[in-house]
Amino acid sequence: MTDQNTGGHVPVLLGRVLELLAPALTGPSPVVVDANLGLGGHAEAILAAHPNVHLIGIDRDPFAIEHSTARLAPYAARTTIVRAVSSELEEVLADSGHPVIDGALFDLGVSSPQLDEADRGFAYSYDAPLDMRMDRDQELTAADVVNTYAPRDLARVLRDFGEERFAARIAERVAKERAIEPITSTKRLADLVREAIPAATRRTGGNPAKRTFQALRIEVNAELAALDAALPASLDALAVGGRVVVLSYHSLEDRLTKQVLAARTRETGPPGLPVPLEAHQPRFRHLTRGAELPDDDELARNPRAASARLRAAERIRQG
Ligand SMILES: C[S@@+](CC[C@H](N)C(=O)[O-])C[C@H]1O[C@@H](n2cnc3c(N)ncnc32)[C@H](O)[C@@H]1O
Repeated sequence: MTDQNTGGHVPVLLGRVLELLAPALTGPSPVVVDANLGLGGHAEAILAAHPNVHLIGIDRDPFAIEHSTARLAPYAARTTIVRAVSSELEEVLADSGHPVIDGALFDLGVSSPQLDEADRGFAYSYDAPLDMRMDRDQELTAADVVNTYAPRDLARVLRDFGEERFAARIAERVAKERAIEPITSTKRLADLVREAIPAATRRTGGNPAKRTFQALRIEVNAELAALDAALPASLDALAVGGRVVVLSYHSLEDRLTKQVLAARTRETGPPGLPVPLEAHQPRFRHLTRGAELPDDDELARNPRAASARLRAAERIRQG
């Protein structure tokens, strides 16, 4: 596999993803949805391992669509590639003629090219316009959030989506600076964040801009709202025996995934019923105990896997 094919993105926990999905893909014509197609790394491996699988790949980034379409060309007869936001999953499945699926994969967040192409403005390590849109046809950019949100709302974004304890100080500093001149570059924002937090904290815990950049990216792309719609939609679409695998890269995504799967894997009846009713039995069971992490070998090969957390579940009942 050349780097041009992979786009420099190494699929995370690939062996485990394949192992977890495999038992659901033994039928004559299984359907898998990859809700974060990206460069098509996981998708290509699924298609190669399962000659009967039809794969529906979704991504909101036109670059990802173009790249994965070329990469998956050998499998074109059994792939449907759709540029969409994952929250549109139900419609995408209906339009594809496959409303019922056997497998679903979520490999959340950004891809390596999105991070590495400086001008996309995701990274504090490059100086670039404050953009951070996965889909550049969308209007809202990180610069809009930074320059137009009321300080209270900006602080909320930094706190809720970045778990930034100095959110209010950063928002105040940003508001003061933008009154003089709009903040349009990643470097200027990263410098402001560094200046806004206490000197003692600056020396610990990596780049102080990390949490602010994560928060802005989640806000700009409404990432948690998309997951909150897409993951339940994928569970609803799974046939009995169907499986979902979710790879998340920060605690907010993982927490949401854990909550959605926990709600589906527990009994729904009132406590204390002498005989549990069939209608109250869980429709899903966990396939992972807690969240699984990449091992040291994988981290040595792919440092970007470091924050990955994998959870998976299987549909065990209809209804
Ligand atoms: C980590 S990458 C996926 C990499 C892929 N599994 C591979 O092996 O090449 C995540 C991809 O999901 C896309 N993405 C993130 N959130 C999305 C959403 N809500 N809807 C559609 N695509 C989304 C991003 O544009 C990015 O291409």
